[in-house]
Amino acid sequence: MSSLKYIQYQGLLVSTAAHSWESLEYAQNFPVQHTDVFAVTYPKSGTVWMQEILPLVLNGGDLTPVLTIRNHDRVPWLECKQLAEIVDRLTSPRALVTHLPYSLMPPSFHASKAKVIYVTRDPKDVLVSSYYFHQMAAFLEDPGTFDEFLGKFLEGRVPFGKWTEHVKSWKSAELGDRILFITYEEMVQDLPASIRRISDFLGSNLSDEVIQKIAEHCSFRSMKDNDMSNFSHVSNQYMDTNKSSFLRKGIVGDWKNHFSSEKLVRFVSVMNQELKEESSCLFVWI
Ligand code: A3P
Repeated sequence: MSSLKYIQYQGLLVSTAAHSWESLEYAQNFPVQHTDVFAVTYPKSGTVWMQEILPLVLNGGDLTPVLTIRNHDRVPWLECKQLAEIVDRLTSPRALVTHLPYSLMPPSFHASKAKVIYVTRDPKDVLVSSYYFHQMAAFLEDPGTFDEFLGKFLEGRVPFGKWTEHVKSWKSAELGDRILFITYEEMVQDLPASIRRISDFLGSNLSDEVIQKIAEHCSFRSMKDNDMSNFSHVSNQYMDTNKSSFLRKGIVGDWKNHFSSEKLVRFVSVMNQELKEESSCLFVWI
């Protein structure tokens, strides 16, 4: 494994395991189509969940792709090395995911009618999920103690930078009816209703029966058992499942098991400071 775990591209920190200068340039020159659908997330906010939901919503609930194609090949990351290898295999309407901030989306995206589903998650739970992911993923820097990692997260010294910058960039994007905001928490609370929102946004016109079938397939338990979605093909050398699973807990509020009252005060005060220009109703967790 390369000793250089991260590179910076236009100020954005990314891991060299999945990204290269070429893959980021490829993303910049990627010809976005009008029918493309992007699920945009800050890492650990529900990306692989959307890689499961989107193909099913777009194809009327046919389970074939989610049971036969690995998640990163069926709904690839825009910025990752893999996209160039598999792009010709994608069928329209294409679904992609990205962690890029709005400012780094390719020019063709802005000229297109491509739709975006932006998934946000309570940043305290994002931090906890990310902490365990940094422990198990050998291609990420060791997170240190939870307290140390909290500091890194708040300062944006983690891949894809500050949570606040990412969310602000997409919340202020003027995309009109091309963008749907959805939260991880509402998906946990009522997955069929969330899938209905996504389906209506994409004009998929799915029956209640199909929505139910998709929700069952996309439950945490079902995805954990799906070898096309649970990263079981990745060697323990890269993702050490003895330390943590990629599909780890899948719950809301795990932060309560990790934050002391002092840490909570520190976290909330930084968030408030950085979000003060924004409408607070956009940030339901702070
Ligand atoms: P936890 O570590 O809190 O369990 P991402 O895909 O953006 O990296 O996000 C990973 C997080 O989403 C993990 O959170 C993972 O368990 C959770 N997740 C993935 N699929 C899920 C599902 N079907 N239901 C609930 N949570 C899910």
